[in-house]
Amino acid sequence: MTRIFSGVKPTGHLTLGNYLGAVRRWVEVDQHQGEALFSVVDLHALTVEHDPARVRRLSRQAATLLLASGLDPELCTLFVQSHVDEHARLSYLLECTATDGELRRMIQYKEKSVRAREAGQGVRLSLLTYPVLMAADILAYGTDEVPVGEDQTQHVELTRDLALRFNQRYGHTFTVPRATRPAVAARVMDLQDPTSKMGKSHENGAGIVYLLDDADTVRRKVMRAVTDSGREVVYDRDVKPGLANLLDLMAAATGGNPEELAGVYESYGALKKDTADAVVELLRPVRERHAELAADPGYVDRVLREGAERARGIARPLVDRAYRAIGLLPAA
Ligand code: TYM
Repeated sequence: MTRIFSGVKPTGHLTLGNYLGAVRRWVEVDQHQGEALFSVVDLHALTVEHDPARVRRLSRQAATLLLASGLDPELCTLFVQSHVDEHARLSYLLECTATDGELRRMIQYKEKSVRAREAGQGVRLSLLTYPVLMAADILAYGTDEVPVGEDQTQHVELTRDLALRFNQRYGHTFTVPRATRPAVAARVMDLQDPTSKMGKSHENGAGIVYLLDDADTVRRKVMRAVTDSGREVVYDRDVKPGLANLLDLMAAATGGNPEELAGVYESYGALKKDTADAVVELLRPVRERHAELAADPGYVDRVLREGAERARGIARPLVDRAYRAIGLLPAA
């Protein structure tokens, strides 16, 4: 059976980008298709300046939102990364496999380290090694498929390289995984700055739709989205990125095709209004289910406890095998 692994990091409130680029596919496709594991990857949230209480709160919220979005503990395994020691254990072996040169080439490292320096903060060493921990997340489960948005492609490529290198040096140990992506909205852009990704740690909330935004807020954000000059509704990501983003959102929310939708609309205003309505309807059930689940933290805790146990059961033997393969003496 196909093994599937993916994760979301609790650095901010989950966004429409997370939902369309990853979570919705986990719910609709992945959990039905194979043995799927999904994780709130909290260790990754420590790679930049963080507030301990906030990370804890956001971790619980992310897990609750994943369940509210439709992940079903009967169909998949949902857990918190730090509850399973194997991630950190394997990460060290992969640090001994990766080189600093290949990590410094990672786009997200370059962007985030510049941002940290500009803010007068030190660049945590873990920001550099972040993709190695991500590789460990994936490889610890013998993962075949990693369903992610477009921004994670480079990290999954590195994961493949590390798996191949390890296997070549120390004997076959890891499955070499591949990234899978949604057909539309693999890269949702910020509504105020359609040339940059809608990201949860972005400072400007006006261009970001959060899964927990109420209907009025969602509507206001979409109606105020920056659009491009001219009047013609065409789907062209390079020339009209703002419009293309709205068409992508509309297509993703209604199951349509962005190019075909462009032919349907005669004005930007009409497209915005329909997109706003479609996104509100898309998120309504998630928000409602979240409110119910948030009232029952005991249930969420139980799901996470059982999830961590199952995850450990899969990862431990595999990581133990990697420890032996690389030359470490097993404990007697
Ligand atoms: P994170 O937490 O930034 O995002 C979670 C998932 O949402 C996708 N995504 C988007 N997709 C489309 N448009 C957007 N604007 C958008 N923003 C986010 C991401 O591609 C991702 O699939 N490094 C990962 C977390 C991670 C992970 C892993 C993922 C850690 N270990 C192992 C897969 C496997 C990250 O920062 O995701």
